[in-house]
This record gives sequence, structure tokens and C-alpha cells, in this order.
Amino acid sequence: MNVHVAPWPNGHHPDDPRFVFARDVITGLTQQPKQLPPKYFYDETGSHLFEEITRLPEYYPTRTELKILRDRGADIASIIPPGAALVEFGAGATTKVRLLLERCRFAAYVPVDISGAFLNGQANGLRADFPDLAVHAVVADFTTPFLLPDAVKDMPKVGFFPGSTIGNFDPAEAAAFLQGARDILGEGATMIVGVDLEKAEPVLHAAYNDSAGVTAKFNENVLARVNRELGGDFDLSAFAHQAVYNRERHRIEMHLVSLKAQTAHLCDKSFSFSAGESIHTESSYKYSTERFQRLARESGWMPQAIWTDRDKMFSVHALTTKRD
Ligand code: AVI
Repeated sequence: MNVHVAPWPNGHHPDDPRFVFARDVITGLTQQPKQLPPKYFYDETGSHLFEEITRLPEYYPTRTELKILRDRGADIASIIPPGAALVEFGAGATTKVRLLLERCRFAAYVPVDISGAFLNGQANGLRADFPDLAVHAVVADFTTPFLLPDAVKDMPKVGFFPGSTIGNFDPAEAAAFLQGARDILGEGATMIVGVDLEKAEPVLHAAYNDSAGVTAKFNENVLARVNRELGGDFDLSAFAHQAVYNRERHRIEMHLVSLKAQTAHLCDKSFSFSAGESIHTESSYKYSTERFQRLARESGWMPQAIWTDRDKMFSVHALTTKRD
């Protein structure tokens, strides 16, 4: 799509992240219903807000997944071949990967993330704590094809995609991600994926409408970024956070709802909102174990094992490409 982003200084390049951000925002707000890509939540402010979300009493996914990784560490270790390379798709806080590294005998760790500065900080911390582990950080967008470092070429591969980040992809994107991961990791690989489970609606509702209002701030941060980084004039006080469960589509939808009829501007474009009109900012899909296993099968993986907590709030799936 050809979007003109005047009145910026001359010389911006189509690969310039600010240009890409502006183009994606303009594209999303031109659609009906209006939407914004959730990846733009995560600037420094948004990443800190997300860390805060993971500690909220209502937000169960992070602590439940950690408990599963801790409690079922021995079972997970039993399916990991010794001397394997652990490839993490997206590298956030290292708490979860440390649990795997402590329990399984990995020879190498390959964190893959778009943010090089962040990756190197994380990689250095792990090198200090696991001196025998070879750490090869790869700066790449893990949703597109990338090459693994030569040093791990001959090692068995284990992919790791925790946090139910896969739930932020729609099912077609999730299938494309799993197929891509299979191509990157190759024949014989294992994949460990954290997946949030379907559950009673009030529990889901509370997790995305926390009483401290942190999720609301996280949601609003995307428009704050548009103002801060792109010079937009969105009136943040005239949009409200809304998170609702869409039962037919098995997903929490986050929206920013316009509280009045208003017009906002970005670059040389105007965007009009009627009162009550929303911007869909994120979907967070919830799976039954069967539905996720079906998605995995359709994407070239075979379900190998599944671990859940006692209350069946969250699941950790092991998938394999091995045929025996
Ligand atoms: C990162 N992701 C799995 C979170 C989720 O639960 O979908 C993002 C999030 N959005 C609102 N709260 C947390």
C-alpha cells in the first residue's frame, strides 16, 4: 500500500520503523471496523506495563505457566534430547527459559527477537549464570523466516514459545507461525508452546479488566505512542479501555472505545469516530487442548505431551515432527 506520510522531513525510507509504524496505523484506522496491530503495545513504557500485568492478582497466565514449568520440569526434561539447542521465539523476561535451562541439559540457547539491545542484555545475564551454555542471539522478526546460527546446525532443536503469545495471532497466523517454526527447526525437532485455556467468562473478564487499571493503561499506550512518536493528536481522555470475551471466536477482544464523536489527525490524514465506535487493538485467543492439538497437526506437528495446572487454567504443549 502506498501511504503518503507528509509533512515529515524529506528522506524517510520505507524501512524506517517510524514510517512503517505510521503506515500500519493509517492502514488500520482506515479499515472498518478500525484496528491497530497489537505489536505496537510494546515500546519501553508498554513492555513495563506488560511486566506489571504479569504480576496482577487477576492475570493468572504468567504465574500458572511458571508453576507448570516448575512442577513438570522433570517430565519436560525427559523428552528433551541431551545436547540440544533451545530456540526461543521472542525473548522477554528470562524467568521461564531459566526453568528449562536449569532442568534440561541444553548445549546452546538461541533467543530470537527483533530488539537487539534487549536481546544482548538478556543473553549476557544467561552467559554469566550458565557458563557451559553457548548463547547465540539472533536479531530477527520471528514471524518471518530466519536462519539459525551455523554453530547449532548439527544439534537436535527444541523450539520454545511460552506465554500464550500464540494466542495473540488469529488461527491462520498461528498456523503460519507453527509451519514456519517447523521449517526453521527442521525434521526431528520438538516444540514447547504455552497456550491459555478456555475457561469461565468472569475469570477471563477480570484478567483483562484488572481493578488497578494497568491493562487499560497498556491498551491506551498504543494511542499515546501514536501521539508521542508520530505527532498524532488523539485525545486519550476521550477513549475508554474495553475487554470483552467473544465466545463464538474463543477470544478476548481489547478495544479502545470513543466516548464521543470526534476527529483525530495523524500526518496529513483525519480519522473520524462516532460516539461508541471502537478501535480493535488486540485479540487473545483461548484454546481447548483438542483445538490446539488440531491446529498443531494441521501445521505439520504431532502432539507429544501436554501439561496443565490442577485447575486447567493454562497448558504447555510439547509437539514433535518425529515419526515413530
Ligand atoms: C502477551 N499476551 C499473551 C498477553 C495476552 O494475555 O494476550 C497480552 C495482554 N493483553 C492484555 N493483557 C495481557
